[in-house]
Amino acid sequence: MKNPLIIKHAQKLLCPTDFHGGFGQLDIIEDGAVVCRKDIIVWVGKTSDIPPDYENENCQVINASNKLVAPGFVDCHTHPIFSGTREHEFVMRCQGKSYREIAEAGGGIRYSVRMLRTASEEELLIDAIPRLNRFLSTGTTTIEAKSGYGLSIDNEIKMLRVIRKLNEIHPIDIVPTFLGAHELPDEYRDRRRDYIDLVIHEMIPMVAEEKLAVFCDVFCEDHVFTVNESEEILQAALNAGLKIKIHADQLTSSHGAAMAASLGAVSADHLDYSDSNTVEQLKQHGVIPVLLPGAVFFLGLSHYANARSMIDSQLPVAIATDFNPGSCTIQSMPLIASISCIYMHMTPTETWIASTINAAKSVCLEQKIGSLSVNKQADIIIWDIPNENFMPYSFGNTSIDNVVKNGDLLKT
Ligand code: NIG
Ligand code: FE
Repeated sequence: MKNPLIIKHAQKLLCPTDFHGGFGQLDIIEDGAVVCRKDIIVWVGKTSDIPPDYENENCQVINASNKLVAPGFVDCHTHPIFSGTREHEFVMRCQGKSYREIAEAGGGIRYSVRMLRTASEEELLIDAIPRLNRFLSTGTTTIEAKSGYGLSIDNEIKMLRVIRKLNEIHPIDIVPTFLGAHELPDEYRDRRRDYIDLVIHEMIPMVAEEKLAVFCDVFCEDHVFTVNESEEILQAALNAGLKIKIHADQLTSSHGAAMAASLGAVSADHLDYSDSNTVEQLKQHGVIPVLLPGAVFFLGLSHYANARSMIDSQLPVAIATDFNPGSCTIQSMPLIASISCIYMHMTPTETWIASTINAAKSVCLEQKIGSLSVNKQADIIIWDIPNENFMPYSFGNTSIDNVVKNGDLLKT
């Protein structure tokens, strides 16, 4: 049996807290301590108050003096399973072509689809492992991961099986999302209705039957799936017992996020062009906005989501990387936090809340992860930084001493 783990004398122990109907808050305990037994946090408080019983047990102790201790990040929107990379498109964008122009000429997601279809499950798994290691090395202990580069029954199932296998063999936890409606694949360009029927009548039932995904997502944008098409797909997913999410308002403003809110979506993601009416709908239906400023930054765009109005409306805004081979190669949540501060005018404190407890809410895991509190999973990062502001301030640098994942010390 594993001995208890005590982390003590943390200069600052960050405790994000969820409160219903609000953005959340960050409580900070100075000279703080956390006690973990097996994979669970069993005690949190000031070092001087650690119950002596714990210290009497044969425990492993980490002295975190001069360190900051925080929950692991939850990166709640990623596309980490792909084959091949798209630096040729990056060159095209540097020369002035837009993401949308490249997509419409057959590149973008469709390029990644062609590549993924040639790869075996084994190859996809091997390619993904270093990516998962990189998430952990920058403090991310749980990710949400989407399919969406298969776009045929076999290839979507292949991606979701890879995600399932990775979840079993890698310390990082992965929440699987089915994104069969990510694009129209090459062979369905003139038969869009047939592809939508395939997603609704064959893919969704199979994914639900094999329990390969928790969520179903759709890329709702006028050159991809329309609001009506997205609604039909998401309704089918709900009927099959999946929870729903949407990519909406990334490049243009539509009624997509508001539609998903009225259907009962857990989150609406991107929202760069969302207007005040959409913000109102998200609030009314309790939808988590997941903002992805890394994609705006990496695509060289300037229209960021209006995080301030969402936070001021007391929406529990989350932030995530959107890691994928096309629109955002960033895997680091600290970088996303920096971009959120610089371009969306979030405060450093808000970025901690948005990338931990609120992100956990956006994947329905707020009872299990996203904060340092009793009975939560022991996913803890020990940072070699002096205070909470330093993480996004120190742009491009990540100073992590130790990662504790499920109560196991991974890095010393
Ligand atoms: O979230 N918006 C749609 N999907 C991804 C991009 C995927 C890709 O370009 O490969 C995104 O940005
Ligand atoms: Fe995405």
